[in-house]
Amino acid sequence: MKQLEITTQITVFESIDELPIDIKLLMNKAIEAKQMAYAPYSKFKVGAALLLENGSIITGNNQENAAYPSGICAERVAIWKASSEFPNQKILALAISASSATLVVNEPVSPCGACRQTLSEYEINQEDKIAVYFMGEIGNVMKTNSVLDLLPMAFDKSLL
Ligand code: THU
Repeated sequence: MKQLEITTQITVFESIDELPIDIKLLMNKAIEAKQMAYAPYSKFKVGAALLLENGSIITGNNQENAAYPSGICAERVAIWKASSEFPNQKILALAISASSATLVVNEPVSPCGACRQTLSEYEINQEDKIAVYFMGEIGNVMKTNSVLDLLPMAFDKSLL
């Protein structure tokens, strides 16, 4: 038997002001989108913004539902919007910001498992990494160089 080790590199920026200018702009778009989230049940609002190769920025936010599982995360709203409007545009980066009405979110909020799975499909298809930047409402911003860094050993279409 042998043991395998999986490591992930995460860059930590002290604040949004430390980000490269184009990513700071992208994060600000995610923050803007977050304000328009529909999250009456969790009161936890998330905004996501994708930077496409052609320079377009596509945003999304979480959309909840009285039938709770029918709601959907910000990241998936954004990626499906991007894929439906610009199916052939590579995605360069994703920025995510989250805030709660009940507490100060001062730690980075990383995408949930279902979003990681969904995002990974598009990253694999485009054969180029998507940089993922995520933060709470304030504080540090974390960056991984790719979605697969957040989802090692992802299930993909290779066996289907
Ligand atoms: N949520 C997101 O939009 N993205 C995530 O990655 C984590 C969770 C949303 C879903 C739900 O509307 C609320 O946050 C609380 O889970």
